[in-house]
Amino acid sequence: MAKEKQVFFCKECGYESAKWLGQCPGCQSWNTFVEEKIKVGAHKTSVKKDAVAPTSILKATTADESRIKTDIKELDRVLGGGIVKGSLVLVGGDPGIGKSTILLQMCRNLVHTGVETLYVSGEESSGQIKMRAERLGTFDKDMTLLCDNDMDNISAVIQKSNASVVVIDSIQTVALDEVSSAPGTVSQVREVTARLMQLAKQNNVAIFIVGHVTKEGTVAGPRTLEHMVDSVLYFEGDKNNGFRILRGVKNRFGSTNEIGVFNMTDKGLEEVDNPSQMMLNGRPEGVSGSVVVSSLEGSRSILVELQALVCQTNFNMPRRTSVGVDFNRVNLIMAVMEKRAGLNLWGYDAYVSIAGGMKISDPAIDLGIACAIASSMRNKPVDEDTMIIGEVGLAGEIRGVTNIMQRVKEADKLGFKQCIIPASNYDVAMEKLDIKVTKVANIVEALGTI
Ligand code: TYD
Ligand code: MG
Repeated sequence: MAKEKQVFFCKECGYESAKWLGQCPGCQSWNTFVEEKIKVGAHKTSVKKDAVAPTSILKATTADESRIKTDIKELDRVLGGGIVKGSLVLVGGDPGIGKSTILLQMCRNLVHTGVETLYVSGEESSGQIKMRAERLGTFDKDMTLLCDNDMDNISAVIQKSNASVVVIDSIQTVALDEVSSAPGTVSQVREVTARLMQLAKQNNVAIFIVGHVTKEGTVAGPRTLEHMVDSVLYFEGDKNNGFRILRGVKNRFGSTNEIGVFNMTDKGLEEVDNPSQMMLNGRPEGVSGSVVVSSLEGSRSILVELQALVCQTNFNMPRRTSVGVDFNRVNLIMAVMEKRAGLNLWGYDAYVSIAGGMKISDPAIDLGIACAIASSMRNKPVDEDTMIIGEVGLAGEIRGVTNIMQRVKEADKLGFKQCIIPASNYDVAMEKLDIKVTKVANIVEALGTI
């Protein structure tokens, strides 16, 4: 007979403790412990199989590497070239961002090409799914739907069906009977995921699980969930405009940091073939404080507009705000500008933002931030056909960035006339392009050029 035990779990990292704790010893976050009841000795997550003998790497056979194409190019790219059979993929994102939509679109394309698919929803009824499917366009082949929350039942259906791709719409709604806590709690999410992992590997089906994201931006439930699955994809974007980015954060079968760019329309998500063009759409012309920078996202270079607004402050402490770029990075660059370029920024408020709701961590936009701030402060626009690349160092030097050729070529392709790059990145091959390449070595030189 299984005994019930009360334990406390950290919501962030899954750390288990017999007592409530204010700070988690595992991940150091505060106030994250929740109480849950678990049964002890009731079950084991892993089924003991026959002992497996060790083998040599030369003799090991690779599984069938053929990937299932989803026919959504942006999604295939993030997955590393298509769906790998037997993989477990977590799709996270804010509510209403479009997780169910993209997975349903994927299912439609899959059944169209003859791949059997099962869509399990614990959140919506079959009628609601049908309504959404009708918005997305016609399903010309049949797809199996299952509206259930019981993991044992779902498991039985997956084992019986011939589906090679299964979607579980929201891991937070599925529950195992033998775990006594409510659906969505740490122990449930962990056990259900372990069960799904086993199912995926044993039956060689690819399973996509949808995970809701907490306010802090992590998948609700333990972060161990991210360690358990093969790939983690995050859907981000501003809910108020249609722009959506699918980002690969972990991928056992391909590179990470690839992004897929989509646009939410009334007929579902549309792929964006040329993200730079879309990001630069509606750019104001001849306005001070607006510059174009380049950000490397996975294997692509994307051009985005960066804006700064600098105005005299009315407070003792000037205000600094940043959207889409790291706040501390902006402060650091402003300090370098004061010290090395002699700009008196202390009496000014500064607001820096990336247009289009993108978040950029590429240091190659540093020089763009500096130029935008200087442009806004002097109230002199930067030439709108100029793209700016470079990392700013504390000594005021402009440091080289990675994949410079790709970035310059992208600007050339989009019809930019000038490109400001770090001197150390200069390459004679750039002479062959139509775009004029200007080398800068330090921040004073750069601010003089613009
Ligand atoms: P959904 O996929 O349900 O989000 P999630 O599963 O991530 O919670 O997306 C819901 C949002 O998308 C909702 O605000 C409506 C919008 N939407 C469209 O704009 N067009 C469409 O064709 C569909 C299906 C949804
Ligand atoms: Mg949904």
